[in-house]
Amino acid sequence: MFITIEGIDGGGKSTQLDTVAAALRARGVSLVVTREPGGTPLGERLREVLLSEPMGADAEALLMFAARAEHLRTVIRPALDGGKWVLCDRFTDASYAYQGGGRGLAPERIGALEAWVHADLQPDLTLLFDLAPEVAATRLAQARGADRFEGEPLHFHTTVRDAYLRRARAAPQRIVVIDAARDAALIRDELTALIARWSP
Ligand code: TYD
Repeated sequence: MFITIEGIDGGGKSTQLDTVAAALRARGVSLVVTREPGGTPLGERLREVLLSEPMGADAEALLMFAARAEHLRTVIRPALDGGKWVLCDRFTDASYAYQGGGRGLAPERIGALEAWVHADLQPDLTLLFDLAPEVAATRLAQARGADRFEGEPLHFHTTVRDAYLRRARAAPQRIVVIDAARDAALIRDELTALIARWSP
């Protein structure tokens, strides 16, 4: 299984990723945990550039997919081919949400890159951590050192969220929307139950 975790910045996605990974491992799943942009030496260098260097929307989308191509080639595909499960912190839904929704690139552009890089492969399950950007912003304000995406104004994050929710409506069998505004313990319980349904 290929599982991805998505959501706007400040939604507590990283904490919940640890919960999902622990729940899967507790059920005996042999798991590779990785992230985007990143997950490979090239991808991590591109991540540094993407999170700090000013650039246009086209360069941003192309670099995201360059990192993704390398990630698929050297990490994701070999793991899945070897019978492992992959849990990835963000994937192509993030490109639709951030470069499409946030930056305003036409979804067809993202679709063309998706068809180029992974026409044959989609996540089996995507957990979308959803909450109001206003709430996420107060969480982000408490953390230091916003990157190039986290530092964007509220309306950017609103369009990112809307794009994510549109994708969830279009693919309800794959994308599970999780209310991330709730207490962390409640979310953990929901995730544990969900993993019990999906794993061996
Ligand atoms: P993020 O998972 O938020 O890292 P961290 O939790 O360590 O801050 O990922 C970094 C940023 O990359 C995030 O703001 C969203 C952005 N991003 C895109 O814009 N497009 C993409 O395709 C991906 C994978 C990420």
